[in-house]
Amino acid sequence: MITTNTDRPAVLEVRDVSKSFGSVVALERVSLTLHKGEILGLLGDNGAGKSTLIKALSGVHSVDSGEIRLDGKVVNFQSSADARSHGIETVFQDLAVFDNLNVIENIFIGREESYGRFLGPLSFLNRRKMVEQWKRYTEVLEVRIKDPYQPIGLMSGGQRQAVAIARSFAFAGRIVILDEPTAALGLREKRNVRRMIRRLAEQDISVILISHNIQEVLEVCDRATVLRQGRNVGECEAIPELQEHIVSMIVGASAAARHMDHRGPAQ
Ligand SMILES: Nc1ncnc2c1ncn2[C@@H]1O[C@H](COP(=O)(O)OP(=O)(O)OP(=O)(O)O)[C@@H](O)[C@H]1O
Ligand SMILES: [Mg+2]
Repeated sequence: MITTNTDRPAVLEVRDVSKSFGSVVALERVSLTLHKGEILGLLGDNGAGKSTLIKALSGVHSVDSGEIRLDGKVVNFQSSADARSHGIETVFQDLAVFDNLNVIENIFIGREESYGRFLGPLSFLNRRKMVEQWKRYTEVLEVRIKDPYQPIGLMSGGQRQAVAIARSFAFAGRIVILDEPTAALGLREKRNVRRMIRRLAEQDISVILISHNIQEVLEVCDRATVLRQGRNVGECEAIPELQEHIVSMIVGASAAARHMDHRGPAQ
């Protein structure tokens, strides 16, 4: 079991971020820190604000207040392409791929304008290299994609998810954010994705993994942070001994409340 990487430099710092949709408060002064090469599990019940938070981190949503820092500098991403250009790759829960485009088009969607700043110009050679890299990842994930030129809408849910995951791994710069990446995958593919996440972290890429599967979080993540009703309720090492504690934070049992009273909110 790998212990926390919290002594390593912070790559991403979220401070007091709030976001409302009309009268719905999705995030209320949420903070988190992601360190270099760390795998952070982001947990919480349905509607806790997890997807909203990662959409704010990846340029899909602007925030109402608060601050996001990347390598210590305040950032204000205007779009997901903008976030990508800063090395943040995200696999969204709901917008993972575009069904009407083929696999290759999906790999490069929105990338032409964004590629430049962080990784250099997206030349023909670079494109070929990225496709090869992406292919290698699909092979490692043991996902068989017969024809990369067929519309992705004709593929199974698991295959589509695998295309998006392999894409994020292939382009990973600083941070990979995965929102329920393994939900539609078979057992073997799930195992491969977890292994790949570990490998990314070994290469100093930081990962945020959203998952409802607590076993998966305990197996893959270094640390877990929990949201409930749009707020931070605590964080801890992702170790089996703390499973019950993590569950109680997610569901808001009195045990979690006692813990918070005792320790104060997580920093
Ligand atoms: N675009 C939106 N417009 C209006 N309300 C939204 C929007 N996106 C999210 N919300 C609301 O914000 C709250 C947080 O939603 P969010 O999708 O972030 O939850 P989640 O933790 O990702 O849940 P799940 O585990 O079900 O994916 C919910 O009350 C949701 O209805
Ligand atoms: Mg969600």
